Amino acid sequence: MEASSEGFRLVLAPLHGVTGKAFRAAYFARFRGFDSCVAPFILAAGVKGPRPTHFRELEPEGQAEIPLAPQLLADDAEAFLATAAVLEGYGYRELDWNLGCPYPMVAKKGRGSGLLPHPDRVERFLERVVPRLGPALSVKVRLGRENPDELVALMPALARFPLSRVTIHARLGIQMYRGEVDLEGFARAAALCPHPVAYNGDLRDEGTLARLRARFPAVREWMVGRWALYDPFLPARLKGLQPDPDPSATLRAFHDDLYARYRAALSGPGHVLSKMKEAWTYFGRSLACPERALEAVARAKGFADYEAAARAALDAGYRAPPHPASRAR
Ligand SMILES: Cc1cc2nc3c(=O)[nH]c(=O)nc-3n(C[C@H](O)[C@H](O)[C@H](O)COP(=O)(O)O)c2cc1C
Repeated sequence: MEASSEGFRLVLAPLHGVTGKAFRAAYFARFRGFDSCVAPFILAAGVKGPRPTHFRELEPEGQAEIPLAPQLLADDAEAFLATAAVLEGYGYRELDWNLGCPYPMVAKKGRGSGLLPHPDRVERFLERVVPRLGPALSVKVRLGRENPDELVALMPALARFPLSRVTIHARLGIQMYRGEVDLEGFARAAALCPHPVAYNGDLRDEGTLARLRARFPAVREWMVGRWALYDPFLPARLKGLQPDPDPSATLRAFHDDLYARYRAALSGPGHVLSKMKEAWTYFGRSLACPERALEAVARAKGFADYEAAARAALDAGYRAPPHPASRAR
């Protein structure tokens, strides 16, 4: 890593099932602070026909203005290259390889975090992919599948290739999304990385970012996931931007836009409401409504029922979520 005194970049993390195309469009239209984002993974699979539904979320039409890097989950170099060729045709200049997905079904197949303990496989994959890939390649990793020595052992393999970035989620695969981030483990791996390193994991408030920036001055990119969805005004605060003069109205506009987009894109109340309810589990935390108002949203059946519950909760307005004292030191 090279030290730098310049400003820093904020990147929206990929959350599969949450930060899809409709969400990104509604979010980036009104919440500021992020410089770019990584899309939730798609499987690198056999590519049939010019526009299979496989790529719908990544088709360039209607994407938010903010730079987007598609992410691929793959253990097979040829499938990666075939998928990458379609994405390059869409105009993407950077692709991200997912080496962090923690789900046992994925990891047991030797994909996502399942590849972290296997530097030889990662190296073979990159040897085949990198020379034939048009777009730049970044990787998103964890500290390991089962222990943080794994990423340290993988670093020499990653160091051999011209990666545009290594984003390190400072947890192990077996931790899923729970438990403390391991800053010692992050420090050890980052020190061995010759590529730009982005930090990820529990960046929940300004104090946490300030502490981490002081501790890791060479890190210039910070990826934020859940905490920017719990409180969509967090990225602007992290960047020190002017506060939104009417955050309650902005949150309502975001909700209405997201709902309209899902209604246009998905068929039937079942699909639409399940996507909305998932989004509510995040941004619902930044409303000043009582818990029972969020429960009513979660229970709603049918559009009319949902709209009434959503309106009641949104009427309470915005309140920055009460976070537990930051644990990242
Ligand atoms: C529901 C959910 C889906 C996720 N999907 C992806 C994904 O598609 N690709 C990926 O690299 N990470 C994925 N992640 C991990 C996040 O990108 C991020 O690394 C993790 O949430 C830690 O960052 P945070 O503490 O800022 O949320 C997902 C996380 C969650 C909670």
